[in-house]
Amino acid sequence: MKLCTLTLLAAVLSHQTSAHYVFNRLIINNTISQEFQYVRDVTGNAGQYDNLWQKAFPIYGPENENVTCGRGAFPVHNAATIETATIFAGSEVGFMVSGPYYQGDTQPYIFHEGPGQVFLSKLPNGVKSLRDYDGKGDFFKIAYAGPQDNTTWSLMEKLEMNFTIPKTTPSGKYLLRIEHFLPSPNHGQSQWFVNCAHVEIVGEGGGTPAGFVRFPNAYSEDDPSIWFHEAGASRAPSDLSTYVEPKPEVWQG
Ligand SMILES: *[C@@H]1O[C@H](CO)[C@@H](O)[C@H](O)[C@H]1NC(C)=O
Ligand SMILES: *[C@@H]1O[C@H](CO)[C@@H](O)[C@H](O)[C@H]1NC(C)=O
Ligand SMILES: *[C@@H]1O[C@H](CO)[C@@H](O)[C@H](O)[C@H]1NC(C)=O
Ligand SMILES: *[C@@H]1O[C@H](CO)[C@@H](O)[C@H](O)[C@H]1NC(C)=O
Repeated sequence: MKLCTLTLLAAVLSHQTSAHYVFNRLIINNTISQEFQYVRDVTGNAGQYDNLWQKAFPIYGPENENVTCGRGAFPVHNAATIETATIFAGSEVGFMVSGPYYQGDTQPYIFHEGPGQVFLSKLPNGVKSLRDYDGKGDFFKIAYAGPQDNTTWSLMEKLEMNFTIPKTTPSGKYLLRIEHFLPSPNHGQSQWFVNCAHVEIVGEGGGTPAGFVRFPNAYSEDDPSIWFHEAGASRAPSDLSTYVEPKPEVWQG
């Protein structure tokens, strides 16, 4: 909490920028969805579902149970209204942020230095619907957005992370999970922004997804991808060339 306040303060001082954010919209067929139309609702850090400012607060550490699908995402709070988005395998889609923002900005955007990754987890046999799925099953990675060059993270100042659903992804219902995180050289202080959407993938299928992980604890605090300190002044990295993409590898389909 204290750390977060300091982070916010630093952000405000360094440039006019948005606060934290929630990936609560999907972009499908070039259309931006409503907030939490396809994405599981999450709580604020005080446990409430009605405060976007608090919802946007990070989760700390890869071992926190809430990195599975976001804070308080299961049982599904918006179970009565959440929809399942039909997506064609092979198409490009995106997770877009919402969140509180400061005066001077016209919209929220991603400003934490760190990578973004997207995963899929098929609705397990025997689980009736996505609403009933706790997200404890296997996930495979379908996208990674790392450093763009030595001084810029590719997601920095973007509104969304776009990616392609691999063309040969087996058809079916999935949790589509995004994680964007701020690595840290201090244990327990990496900041995680995680959300999950309900999707049904349709297409030719035929692929065999590989490289499964489960959340939480897909990574350890000592993993070089999590334990990382950017060279350079705060918020002005000078050498991202040593950053290592977290395992597993992206499954290309
Ligand atoms: C993501 O895709 C949407 C359209 O589907 C596009 O408007 C937007 O510019 C793309 N964003 C990035 C960062 O490429
Ligand atoms: C996960 O989120 C729920 C809902 O806000 C909260 O009650 C719980 O304490 C969180 N768990 C951890 C480990 O932070
Ligand atoms: C995207 O377009 C396809 C083809 O028209 C449609 O079947 C699908 O339902 C659309 N998905 C969403 C989420 O609008
Ligand atoms: C990135 O930084 C490293 C270490 O300072 C340097 O060796 C490398 O040439 C840089 N790469 C680019 C593209 O500037």
